[in-house]
Amino acid sequence: MRFDIVSAVPNLLNSPFEHSILSRARKRGLLEINIHDLRKYGIGKHKQIDDYQYGGGAGMVMMAEPLDNCISELKSHHSYDEIIYLTPDGSVLNQKKCNQLSLNQSLMLICGHYKGIDERIREMHVTMEISIGDYVLSGGELGAAILVDSITRLIPGVLNNESSALLDSFQDNLLAPPTYTRPAEYKGRVVPDILFSGHDLKIDEWRHEQSVKRTQERRPDLISSSEE
Ligand code: ADE
Repeated sequence: MRFDIVSAVPNLLNSPFEHSILSRARKRGLLEINIHDLRKYGIGKHKQIDDYQYGGGAGMVMMAEPLDNCISELKSHHSYDEIIYLTPDGSVLNQKKCNQLSLNQSLMLICGHYKGIDERIREMHVTMEISIGDYVLSGGELGAAILVDSITRLIPGVLNNESSALLDSFQDNLLAPPTYTRPAEYKGRVVPDILFSGHDLKIDEWRHEQSVKRTQERRPDLISSSEE
C-alpha cells in the first residue's frame, strides 16, 4: 500500500515510520511512504504557503496555489483511491473506517496547519475528510501518522500473526481481553488458571467473556452502537 503525505512540516514525520512494525512493512515492500514538502511549492522567493484569512480573524490559512500545484503534480504521476484531508471537522476515525481504508492501494494525505487550508482545495481535490478525535492538534501530521499506523497493521502480511489484528480492541466493537506473560505470579498476583489449561476453545470463550465484561464496564456505547 502506498501513502503520499503532503506536509508543511515534513520533519515531524521523520520518526514515526522508521521503527517496529511500520519499518518492517516498508522493508518487506508492503508499505511505501512518500513525504512531500509543501514548502517546495511555495510562492515567491520566500516560498510562501500561508496567508491572512479573508474577512479577518486570527490565524493564517494555507494558500490554495501551493497545495493545488503539489496535489496536481502528484495526481499527474499516480492515481489515488482517496485524497484525505486530516481535519478536526472530518468524520471521526474508528476501526471500521481503518478496515475499509486498508483495502485501498494508494492514499494521499493532506496535513493542514494554522487555521486549515483554503476551502477551494477541499472542493477541488479532497475526497475524504478525517478527524482522529474531538480535539484540536497543531497540524495534521500526527493524525496522518496515526492513520498510516492503524491502516498498515491491517494489511495482510504486515503482522507476523495475521489473526492478531483481527483480535484487536474494537474489532467486533469489543475491547481486547486482559493479557499476561511470564512470570505466572508477580508480587502476589496470579495469572488466571484457565490460561494454563491448554484448552483452546475454553480459553477463547474466557477471552470473549472478558472482552464483553470490559466493554460493558468501560465503553457501553460500543455495545449499543453495534446493535444499531
Ligand atoms: N488537525 C488538527 N486537529 C486534528 C484532528 N483532531 N484530527 C485530524 N487532523 C487534525
